[in-house]
Amino acid sequence: MYNGELLIERPLRWGMVGGGRTGQVGYKHRSGALRDGTYRLVAGAFDLDADRGRDFGTNLGVQPDRCYATYQDLIAGEAGRDDGVEVVSVATPNFTHYEITRALLEAGIHVICEKPLFFTVAECEEIAKLAAEKGLIVGVTYGFTGHPLVRQMAAMVAHGMLGEIRIVDLQYTHGFNAGDDTDAGEAVKWRTNPKTAGPTFVLGDIGTHLYYLSEVVLPDLKIERLLCDRKAFIPSRAPLEDHATVLMHYDNGARGRLWVSSVNAGNMGSQRYRFVGSKASVEWSDAHPDQLFYDVQGEPNRILHHGMPYLEPESLEVDRMGALHTEGLGDSWANIYLWIAQAIDAKRRGDEAFLKTHRYPGIEAGTEGVRWLENCVRSADAGAVWVDFE
Ligand code: NAI
Repeated sequence: MYNGELLIERPLRWGMVGGGRTGQVGYKHRSGALRDGTYRLVAGAFDLDADRGRDFGTNLGVQPDRCYATYQDLIAGEAGRDDGVEVVSVATPNFTHYEITRALLEAGIHVICEKPLFFTVAECEEIAKLAAEKGLIVGVTYGFTGHPLVRQMAAMVAHGMLGEIRIVDLQYTHGFNAGDDTDAGEAVKWRTNPKTAGPTFVLGDIGTHLYYLSEVVLPDLKIERLLCDRKAFIPSRAPLEDHATVLMHYDNGARGRLWVSSVNAGNMGSQRYRFVGSKASVEWSDAHPDQLFYDVQGEPNRILHHGMPYLEPESLEVDRMGALHTEGLGDSWANIYLWIAQAIDAKRRGDEAFLKTHRYPGIEAGTEGVRWLENCVRSADAGAVWVDFE
């Protein structure tokens, strides 16, 4: 169980690009990063509106002269300082991720970037090469996967408790975009424009969370083929989709189905994962994150609770609140930020042995998300046909 002790050599000097007062995801980053004192927020270019960004940053406790108007100013301003920023989180719209990440890495700064990481696998591979050359870490904030019951599902699969995996059933849906975009805010506008969102809307926006979580739980299963059917129920969003279904064939013969939608009117279920094996199934939803359904064929169904001693050690070691007390998204983000901090710390110390076995969402996880999206688009745009996974 984590109790907030510092697990790295010293706190990291941290900054943010984006995630300002009006940003949707910024607070999740700060609640994850600042929970354990592992990061200290020392600089930021928080907002496209420079004055609002400075006002916001100073309210967060950042010195006014370190609240910059642009990410370029942040890089230039921090470069001359002995106490300059060491790691920066990028919480801006998708189309900016690549250029900001590249500029930060070139300046010798570790990066924690939002998903979907970039627009193309080629961009991901270029950034992976740059990060490797510079000896820097790129983390990706698949924030839901730090929950101890996600680790529990992965451990149960690894320990053979489900048997051979047969069915993977993934859903992330909501209804916030069921209406048209006449009065849409900025966050919807950029998400529904291919120039700013990239080649997908809901597949990248929420589907990549599903895909990464399934990779965490089933690290040995690889997709061989997939079929993606996508549609814009609100026509102005085309060619991007507000709804998609994906069928997947895995290399062990398992079958997968994935449903993402932002037009599931009235639905507040958010994410649901069911992994079905030859002996038993597990099911978890972030709507009720403290409970894991464990259904053994022929036995009464069970509900496992986070933090209880009957869970696998892999789950208990990343629990924060202890049984009985709710453990949620903020805790999950705190774990993700901690694991990325440990990777940065190991990189700084040259501890490659630690990095070989340490699990955190890094550049590979970001790249695989983009690779999955490329395959989905190739299938959908050919008329929802089966394609080999490339
Ligand atoms: P948003 O539109 O609500 O906020 C974007 C923020 O970035 C605003 O504060 C804006 O002023 C700022 N910004 C934009 N361009 C900038 C620039 N060049 N320099 C400095 N600041 C800039 O967007 P939202 O919803 O917060 O999404 C941001 C990113 O986070 C996206 O890539 C999205 O996919 C991802 N996201 C991830 C989530 C997760 O659970 N991991 C949840 C929500 C969003």
